[in-house]
Amino acid sequence: MTTPLATVVLSFLMISSFNLHAADLKAGAKVYNDACIECHSLKEGKNRKGPSIYGIVGRKAATVADYDYSEAMKKSNIVWSEQKLEEYLLAPEKSVPGGKMKFEGLSDPEKRQGIIQYLKFVSE
Ligand code: HEC
Repeated sequence: MTTPLATVVLSFLMISSFNLHAADLKAGAKVYNDACIECHSLKEGKNRKGPSIYGIVGRKAATVADYDYSEAMKKSNIVWSEQKLEEYLLAPEKSVPGGKMKFEGLSDPEKRQGIIQYLKFVSE
C-alpha cells in the first residue's frame, strides 16, 4: 500500500464492523490508482480529463454540472447501478458508443467488482 487514501481505507476496515470485503477494497484502491486516477478525481467537483466520480454509484450519468460530457453520455439515460458500471468498465465504447472515455476497459471481473466497491466505500 503506497497511498495515504489506501492507508485510511485499511485502518478504517480494521476498526469497522461493516460487512465489507477487505480484499476487494484493497484491490479496488489499487485499480483506482493504476487505471482511473489519471482522468478521475474522487473529490466532489474536481474534474480532470474525466468528471469527478465521487458518489457515482447510484447517480444518473452526465450530471457533474461543470463537466463537458459527450453527446452520447448525455443521451445515454444511464443510472450508474453496479450492473451498469460493470458493463461500462468492461467495455466503455460498447456500453456508451460514441462516448469519450478513452479507456480499454477492465477485463478482470475481480477488478471491476473491486473498483465498484471502492467507489461506493469512499463516497459514503
Ligand atoms: C484516459 C482517461 C480516462 C480513464 C483512464 C478513465 N476514464 Fe472514466 N471517463 C473519462 C471521460 C473523458 C469520461 C466522460 C465520458 C463521456 O462524456 O462520454 C469518463 C466517464 C466516466 C464515468 C461516467 C461519469 C458520469 O458522471 O456519468 C464513469 C463512471 C467512469 N468514467 C469511471 C471510470 C473508472 C472507474 C475508471 C478506472 C477503472 C475510468 N473511468 C478510467 C476518462 C477516463
